[in-house]
Amino acid sequence: MRTAGQLAEAASAYDDETTPPARAAEQSVLARSGHLHRDRPAVRPDATRVFVVANQKGGVGKTTTTVNVAAALAQLGQRVLVIDPDPQGNASTALGVAHHRGVPSTYDMLVDGEPLADVMTESDEIAGLWVVPATIDPAGAEIELVSVVARESRLQKALAANAWIGSRAEAGEDRFDYVLIDCPPSLGLLTLNAPVAGREMFIPIRAEYYALEGPGAAAGDGRDGAQAPEPEPRRQHHPVDHV
Ligand SMILES: Nc1ncnc2c1ncn2[C@@H]1O[C@H](COP(=O)(O)OP(=O)(O)O)[C@@H](O)[C@H]1O
Ligand SMILES: [Mg+2]
Repeated sequence: MRTAGQLAEAASAYDDETTPPARAAEQSVLARSGHLHRDRPAVRPDATRVFVVANQKGGVGKTTTTVNVAAALAQLGQRVLVIDPDPQGNASTALGVAHHRGVPSTYDMLVDGEPLADVMTESDEIAGLWVVPATIDPAGAEIELVSVVARESRLQKALAANAWIGSRAEAGEDRFDYVLIDCPPSLGLLTLNAPVAGREMFIPIRAEYYALEGPGAAAGDGRDGAQAPEPEPRRQHHPVDHV
């Protein structure tokens, strides 16, 4: 009996007019079985896509969504960066990246203005997956950010200044295809930096009565808050059901 990976590998030899969904499924099976065709990589976006994974409620699947989507994309041959601004550091733990005190972290980038290139590390386990870890800082990035100039656009500036983020023309073949930002469960300054930096959003929710209050409050802050940035056009939201 042949495995799904062997079948997919054999099928690709026929060089047929495969539809995009079939090709995506084939890529996925090949990636899972370790047979990804290096000469037929998954189609890369023309420019880095920056996703925010947010919901002010805790325990709804933000970190789980971030690390699994990031790992799956990297296995498909995409270049992926995960930014962990949550002082709990769950995404850093899940991706096997050190995040004890003294490790360069999201905090150094947002509060001290360290360049992104100096705070990101490549995962030992998955090639093409990079992580900016979170460290639990007792002083609190939230509090220190209050007195920082343009405090809500620190992350946007850090991303814009990085040589691997941008279009094919600007950032070349080494560019990141996806950046995923795993927000903390709050509406503080750490969380506010994320939608300023990203253009697309995953909102994991639980299928339960009060689930929409969190996203509703976040949308309300975006409309009414004096500090809230102007929403950019062409923003896309992708709700993710937690089942
Ligand atoms: N789709 C899902 N279905 C069931 N349980 C899930 C799902 N996504 C996450 N979980 C579980 O829910 C808990 C909280 O998930 P987590 O990703 O840490 O949430 P958050 O980052 O929003 O706080 C974890 O124990 C995780 O394993
Ligand atoms: Mg989390």
